[in-house]
This record gives sequence, structure tokens and C-alpha cells, in this order.
Amino acid sequence: MATSVAAAKLSDVPEGEVLGVEVEGKRVCLANVEGEIYAFADNCSHREFPLSNGELDVDDCTITCEWHGAIFDIRTGAARGLPATRPIAVYPARVEGDEIYVDVSA
Ligand code: FES
Repeated sequence: MATSVAAAKLSDVPEGEVLGVEVEGKRVCLANVEGEIYAFADNCSHREFPLSNGELDVDDCTITCEWHGAIFDIRTGAARGLPATRPIAVYPARVEGDEIYVDVSA
């Protein structure tokens, strides 16, 4: 059964910004793209580096890993740029008031 958990305040993730949080023991990166919140593994699939240190591209809906430059689509988790070839997990996220809820159960 899907279980959404309060992960952060919307006000802590301004537009164009990312925030690394922990949700039920999983490291999750939240990203705000023009008011839409995306949640995905805060863990690059190349060498396990926090993607919340990376650079968000709001036009492409991608994040670039700070370490070696891998690029991921934050909507699907697909690896879009080497050296990463494996996808990252993405999680359902929703906003209620100023609260961001994320479901990491899937
Ligand atoms: S750890 Fe992310 S690109 Fe290498």
C-alpha cells in the first residue's frame, strides 16, 4: 500500500532549488521545477554520490552529478549522460499546504 510521508516544507525548496532529506531511511532529493516538486534518490548510480550537491536544470528537468557529471532525468530517473548508465529511483511526491509528502515504499 502506498504511504506518503511528510518529507520537508515546501518553503525549504524554493523554485529552481534542490534539498536532500531522509525519508524512512532512504536518502531522497527534492527538486522544485517551476512549482512542481520531484522526488528521486539522492544517490548517483555511478559512484553513490549525493545528487543534492548537483546542478538542477529546470529547462531540461535534469540534474547533473557534481562528481563526474552524469545527468539524470528527474521525472523518470533515466540516465541521460555518462558516466552513469543505470537509472535512479524516482518517488511520487505531492504538496499539501506547505508540506511535501513523498512515497518511498515502491
Ligand atoms: S558519482 Fe555521479 S557521476 Fe560519478
